Amino acid sequence: MPSVSLSKIVLVYAFSVVSVIAMLNAEHVPYKLVDNVCQKQGNKQFCLKVLKSDARSKFAKDITTLTKIAVDAAKKNSTATRDYFLGVKTGPPAVLKSLKDCITSYNNVIVNFKISLNEGECSLTGYDIHSAGDEVKSCQAIADSNGAHDSFITARNNITQEFCGLCESLANLMCSKTIA
Ligand SMILES: *[C@@H]1O[C@H](CO)[C@@H](O)[C@H](O)[C@H]1NC(C)=O
Ligand SMILES: *[C@@H]1O[C@H](CO)[C@@H](O)[C@H](O)[C@H]1NC(C)=O
Repeated sequence: MPSVSLSKIVLVYAFSVVSVIAMLNAEHVPYKLVDNVCQKQGNKQFCLKVLKSDARSKFAKDITTLTKIAVDAAKKNSTATRDYFLGVKTGPPAVLKSLKDCITSYNNVIVNFKISLNEGECSLTGYDIHSAGDEVKSCQAIADSNGAHDSFITARNNITQEFCGLCESLANLMCSKTIA
């Protein structure tokens, strides 16, 4: 019966239109990927704060975009820390004694973040970020050995380590090629 066929066609067509609209809507839920990814992070609040501070994350569709945002923020934050260290001229001897080495460490932190996004091989991104974390540890070891453990150096290092942890985790997700 031709009338049945026609109503079937209309039904299938209507269903397709509804499906497409639903798909388009799903893609336009703001921060969908950010919320999904940050859910799985150790420090969820830090992840949300860092990624949402950049407009590119709002409708991001891949982890690569989120990794770039986190590394850019980490680079900016550790550059501010290095520059802050450079400006300190007075304070407890233990702190002043630690700053020179910590400035060298942070120069390496910044370089590692910079090169991490320009690697030809995906796995090297995580490696570079891990190296940045090692540099922060060496600054902290120097501060500890000089007796500056409870200084602003430690507070800054803690923040930089949070950035390293987030960036490395995102880089690993990016390279594992699984859907977040
Ligand atoms: C660095 O990150 C910390 C922690 O999120 C934040 O309090 C601070 O304002 C940031 N500094 C800059 C310059 O982005
Ligand atoms: C830095 O992190 C360590 C380890 O999580 C913590 O014990 C310490 O209180 C933190 N120090 C500062 C100054 O944030």
